Amino acid sequence: MVGVTLGPMTDTDWDAVAATFDDEPDHGLRDPLVREAWAARLLAWLPDRPADVLDLGCGTGSLSLLASEQGHRVTGVDASGAMVEHARSKLAGRAAVFLVGDAGAPPVGEERFDVVLVRHVLWTLPDPARVLRHWRGLLRTGGRLVLVEGVWGTVSPVGIPADTLTALLAPLVADVRVERLSGDARLWGREVEDERYAVLAQP
Ligand SMILES: C[S@@+](CC[C@H](N)C(=O)[O-])C[C@H]1O[C@@H](n2cnc3c(N)ncnc32)[C@H](O)[C@@H]1O
Repeated sequence: MVGVTLGPMTDTDWDAVAATFDDEPDHGLRDPLVREAWAARLLAWLPDRPADVLDLGCGTGSLSLLASEQGHRVTGVDASGAMVEHARSKLAGRAAVFLVGDAGAPPVGEERFDVVLVRHVLWTLPDPARVLRHWRGLLRTGGRLVLVEGVWGTVSPVGIPADTLTALLAPLVADVRVERLSGDARLWGREVEDERYAVLAQP
């Protein structure tokens, strides 16, 4: 935790970066090997029957598309209208809905989900403990949180370390598993040295 910046990343204009966001290998998943690596992880993380997946901070919808291709129904939420437009066109014709809204309090009313899927978003949100409590409340009985996070950079790292995230989850869930992702270069399109991981949590 020491030396890691944790908290809202207020200086990114997500509308402005939406058009080029998918240029990063792990964002756009355009390289078949990178795409295959993420598809294999999602297959293991998501239920083995068609499920309702809430993708929060969905960005351009790259993970939403993989989940949809695996037979799941997707609701995506992002604060950026431009990101949501990209996601809508990427998943056009599929059983998927995209909403502009706050990932910390998504505009889904009374709807509940089998999976709350969040990649690279939690660490940017103020009060992650409150947000995690809210996300747990969006799950149906038997549902799960799939949180993909990390600590990016080695000189001035930013992000949320796995230990911090599991400590925040401990009072909220019965089962937490951390899957380390840094060693799998196929996910990132290159070797990485910083901390990258997924947390699978079930109340
Ligand atoms: C690093 S990108 C990750 C996008 C996507 N989850 C992925 O893995 O490709 C962060 C995304 O979170 C969105 N975001 C940031 N703060 C948000 C908030 N408070 N509510 C909803 N979306 C937010 C941004 O617009 C952006 O699309």
